Amino acid sequence: MGPLCFWGILYILLVGAYSLPQSIQLRVKPDGHFKILQIADMHYANGASTKCKDVLSKEYGSCSDLNTTAFIERLIAAEKPDLIVFSGDNIFGQDTSDPRGSMNAAFAPAVKAGIPWAAILGNHDQESSISRFQVMEHIASMEHTLSQVYPSTKSIIANAEDVDNMTEVDGFGNYHLSVRGAMGSPLENRSVLNLYLLDSGDYSKHPKVHGYGWIQESQKKWFKELSSQLKDDFYKEPIAHNFTTPPALVYFHIPLVEARHVKCSITGSKQESIGCAQVNSGFLQTMREAGNPHIVFNGHDHVNDFCGDLSENVKMCYGGGVGYHAYGKAGWSRRARVVDVSLHKNRSSETVGGRNNAPMRTMSKASTMQHTEWREVDQIVTWKRLDDQTPTSLPTIDYEVLWSRLPLPSKSHYEGWSWMSVMAMIEEQPPLQSSTHTHTHDTVPDSQVCNELVS
Ligand SMILES: *[C@@H]1O[C@H](CO)[C@@H](O)[C@H](O)[C@H]1NC(C)=O
Ligand SMILES: *[C@@H]1O[C@H](CO)[C@@H](O)[C@H](O)[C@H]1NC(C)=O
Ligand SMILES: *[C@@H]1O[C@H](CO)[C@@H](O)[C@H](O)[C@H]1NC(C)=O
Ligand SMILES: *[C@@H]1O[C@H](CO)[C@@H](O)[C@H](O)[C@H]1NC(C)=O
Ligand SMILES: *[C@@H]1O[C@H](CO)[C@@H](O)[C@H](O)[C@H]1NC(C)=O
Repeated sequence: MGPLCFWGILYILLVGAYSLPQSIQLRVKPDGHFKILQIADMHYANGASTKCKDVLSKEYGSCSDLNTTAFIERLIAAEKPDLIVFSGDNIFGQDTSDPRGSMNAAFAPAVKAGIPWAAILGNHDQESSISRFQVMEHIASMEHTLSQVYPSTKSIIANAEDVDNMTEVDGFGNYHLSVRGAMGSPLENRSVLNLYLLDSGDYSKHPKVHGYGWIQESQKKWFKELSSQLKDDFYKEPIAHNFTTPPALVYFHIPLVEARHVKCSITGSKQESIGCAQVNSGFLQTMREAGNPHIVFNGHDHVNDFCGDLSENVKMCYGGGVGYHAYGKAGWSRRARVVDVSLHKNRSSETVGGRNNAPMRTMSKASTMQHTEWREVDQIVTWKRLDDQTPTSLPTIDYEVLWSRLPLPSKSHYEGWSWMSVMAMIEEQPPLQSSTHTHTHDTVPDSQVCNELVS
C-alpha cells in the first residue's frame, strides 16, 4: 500500500463519518432487519384542487392529491419503514403552480414521520418553472432527507484529497447510501448494504434520438469506481471472517432497455410497454461487472409492478404507481413496494451441563446459552401494499425472495404456497404478522407471461 493510499484510508476513517449532509446514519435495526418503502410516481401537483386520474367514476368527485398523501401516511403507519425512497416523478411539473410548495406537500408524510428519506428525479419533476438542478437542490435542503444533488468524492479513496462534489457526473441526484451492520456486531462499522440512487434523465439530449433519457458514461464511471471502493472498504482489515460481498439496491426512475426482455422469471403484472430509452445505456453491463448481486428498482410505468431477472445476479422490480394524479387503471389499486433486508444470525448454542453430568429433567431453558450475533445480509424479500382506501387494511400481495445468501429451494418448490408459509420455511420470525394476503388476479403464471411477452 503506497503512502498516498494510506493517508487516503486514514482520511476516509476520520472524515468519511462526517460526510453525510446530516448526521443520519442508516443502520440495520437490533432485530436484524432494515426495511425500505419505495414510493413511485406521486405526480403531486397543487393538492386539494388537483383531481385524480383513472379512478372509478363514482370516485372522481372526492379524489385529489390529498388521497396520495393519505395513502402514503397509511403505508408508513402499516410498515414503519427505516427508509423511504421516492423514485421520481414526485411532482407533476406541468400541472404545478408552485413547485417548491408542491414538493413540500408531496414529501410531507416522510418529513412529519421523521423517517430518513431519499428522492431521485423522474422525467416530470422539472416541467414547471424550475430546473432539474433547482428541484434536486430543494429536495436536498429538506428535513430528514439523505438526498444529495451531486455525489461526494469523499467516499472514493482515489480522490480523497478532493472534497468537492462530483459535478462532472451527469444529472442531479446521483448518490450513494450505506447501511451499516447491526450495532454490537462484527460488521457494525461496515456497509452491509449499499444503495445507489441515480438520475436516469428526462428526455434524450441527442439530436438523432427521440424519447426518454438514459444513464450516461460519467454516471457509469462513478458507479464503477464507487462500487469497487466499497468492496475494498468492506474487506479491509481487520475482519474476522470472509463475509459474503454486500448486495446493492439501485434506484432510478426510467427502466433499462433490458426490462423488455424480462420473461420467465416474472412476478406481478406487465400491463403496458416498457417506457425505456431508445438507447442501451450499458448500465446493466456495469452492474454485472461489479460482480456482487444488484437489484434495480424503477418507477415510470405506473401499471407495471413486476419483478424479474435482467441477467444472472441482476434483478429488477417496478414500484407500481402510488399517485392518484398519475395515469393508472381504474379498479386496479394504487400500490407501493416494500423491501425487507434481513441479516444472517450466527447461532452457536452451548448447553451448560452435559447429558452426562445433568439429569434431563433438571435441564431448563436457562441452561442453554444462546449466543447470537448478527452478520452480513442473509436475505432480501419484497412485497407490495395496495390502497384499498380503508383507513386500516392495506392488503399485501406478491411476497417474494429477491436474493438469498444461501441457495433457496427452486421456485416450483413453493409455488402455490401462501407467502406466510414460504416465509415460515425460510425465516423463523416473519416480519409481517397482521397483513392479509390476497392472491391477485393479475399474478400471471410464468408460462403465460412468457407467451404473452413473446407474442
Ligand atoms: C379520497 O379521499 C376521500 C376523503 O378521505 C375519500 O372519501 C375517497 O374515498 C378517497 N378516494 C380514493 C379513490 O381513494
Ligand atoms: C456539495 O453539495 C451540497 C449539496 O448537495 C452542498 O451543500 C455543498 O456545499 C457542496 N459542496 C461543495 C464543496 O460544493
Ligand atoms: C466500531 O467503531 C467504534 C468507534 O470507533 C469502535 O469503538 C468499535 O470497536 C468498532 N467496532 C468494530 C466491530 O470494529
Ligand atoms: C473474501 O471474498 C471476496 C469475495 O469472494 C474476495 O474478493 C476476497 O479476496 C476474499 N478475501 C479474503 C481475505 O479471503
Ligand atoms: C459463530 O460465532 C462463534 C462465536 O463468536 C464463532 O466461533 C464462529 O466461528 C461463528 N461461526 C460462523 C459461521 O460465523
